[in-house]
Amino acid sequence: PLDPIESAKRSAAIRAVADHFPPSARYIGIGSGSTIVHVVDAIRALPASYNTASTIFVPTGYQSRQTLYNAGLRDIKFDSLPRDTLIDVAFDGADEVDEELNCIKGGGACLYQEKLVATHARKFVCVADHRKLQARLGSKWPSVPVEVEPLAANTVVEQLRALGSKGAKLREGQMAKAGPIKTDQDNFIVDAPFGRLLLKGDVGRKEKLEDGEEKGTGEREWEVEALAKEIKLIEGVLS
Ligand code: A5P
Repeated sequence: PLDPIESAKRSAAIRAVADHFPPSARYIGIGSGSTIVHVVDAIRALPASYNTASTIFVPTGYQSRQTLYNAGLRDIKFDSLPRDTLIDVAFDGADEVDEELNCIKGGGACLYQEKLVATHARKFVCVADHRKLQARLGSKWPSVPVEVEPLAANTVVEQLRALGSKGAKLREGQMAKAGPIKTDQDNFIVDAPFGRLLLKGDVGRKEKLEDGEEKGTGEREWEVEALAKEIKLIEGVLS
């Protein structure tokens, strides 16, 4: 029997595919992580009327492509999509999701390809079990993963620290290989803790609060979209 977490991932995947996989889909994006494996299983279990044999899947990295290969589904490299083609739906997991559906991604060190595929899709479907939903990002998942060009890794870390992420650091590889972890594009990942990320509505409330007696902690608190824009502006950041 599946453990309760795997079972929650599977339920989320079955629901996501049932609600959002279009019949006769042409191109479908497939993200990375452990939840997406259940999404692929759910796609395989679709009735014949969906005609998934004629659907082409766009993976977001090695694991994703291998999952499709093992499932016997056809894949295409993102850059080989026909000109002016949009992906019908991109399915992907997330590390944390807030109540306005902003997501933290990249916990599994796939990030840049996931964003490429998601931004070229008509619809993005985030498949997440109950553990991932938090009122604000940064509540449980401790940092914002940022994919960086290795040549610029140190300067990016410095700039993330200047934005208030004192603990920003390169993610280390595990065990056998010394040095930072590498993404499918041979880039590095910086994990940048920024604390709890506010929503736009919170910012107004907080300003009101600070006019009164109660003051903030002095640490910079970021609104999620403003932070995402600021990080994107750093030279060397890919995603
Ligand atoms: C990969 O780096 C991530 O963006 C994944 O989509 C995310 O980590 C979800 O993974 P799980 O489904 O394993 O939780």
